[in-house]
Amino acid sequence: MIRIEKLVHRYNNRNEDALKDISLHFKKNESAVIIGSSGSGKSTLLKCINRLIEPSSGDIFIGNDNILNGPIKKAGKIRGKIGMIFQNFNLTENETVLKNVLNGRLRFNSSFKTILGKFSKEDYTLAQENLEKVGLQGYENETVLNLSGGQKQRVAIARTLCQKPDIILADEPVSNLDPKLMKEIMDLLQTICTESGITFIASLHFLDFAKRYGARIIGMRNGKIVFDGKSEDLTEKDIVEIYGKTKEWYLYGKTGF
Ligand SMILES: Nc1ncnc2c1ncn2[C@@H]1O[C@H](COP(=O)(O)OP(=O)(O)OP(=O)(O)O)[C@@H](O)[C@H]1O
Ligand SMILES: [Mg+2]
Repeated sequence: MIRIEKLVHRYNNRNEDALKDISLHFKKNESAVIIGSSGSGKSTLLKCINRLIEPSSGDIFIGNDNILNGPIKKAGKIRGKIGMIFQNFNLTENETVLKNVLNGRLRFNSSFKTILGKFSKEDYTLAQENLEKVGLQGYENETVLNLSGGQKQRVAIARTLCQKPDIILADEPVSNLDPKLMKEIMDLLQTICTESGITFIASLHFLDFAKRYGARIIGMRNGKIVFDGKSEDLTEKDIVEIYGKTKEWYLYGKTGF
């Protein structure tokens, strides 16, 4: 489904690569969690998969298509099938829940329609269905600004589902939420992805949490993959390898969820 080959990324103003020769394969319907200390490259990797960042070198195949090569239009179409969930929700706060969810359809409509802000009947039906899926039916006309963090992330999930994605990438989707909401949102994402056959790749900070939701754990340190395997195979040695025996090992490895 996703094949990352020899991916390297260096930010313009840096003298060290943020991603160093990353090769990873993900199967359809797989659920994987990326862990690693702050600055290890988790967000950079996820952003490259979605081409929010143009990597310095390497290849990323989605199915048979290399999204880093070829016409931009085609890449855009493939990207449309990748949903992205962010820590800070990325919603238009002063617009309604429904409008935000409908925005998930924008890239699938003609630019003419988009300018007029018009959505088809099918778009509205899909938006309503997805609001129900995330448990926000009845909130259509509420302004996003007035919602709680957990509700905002539900809106973002409904918006992503309107893309009818094959893949959902979630960059620390629950970092801004309290522990009860963290679990609720992760359960929701997991259920939706399993039921709809969506490949799910998330970055998460807390280890216990990562093990609970990622059948596969990918450990990053300093731009490299230092662990890739089943969560039950992750040993204490691996954890030290990922986080280093620093404060972070205590913070992420011992406490949390
Ligand atoms: N826009 C940028 N410009 C320059 N360097 C960047 C930029 N974004 C990230 N970096 C650097 O790239 C490296 C990887 O950062 P990245 O944000 O991918 O880490 P992360 O694992 O997501 O960290 P966190 O857990 O704090 O979110 C770090 O050294 C960081 O300083
Ligand atoms: Mg990050």
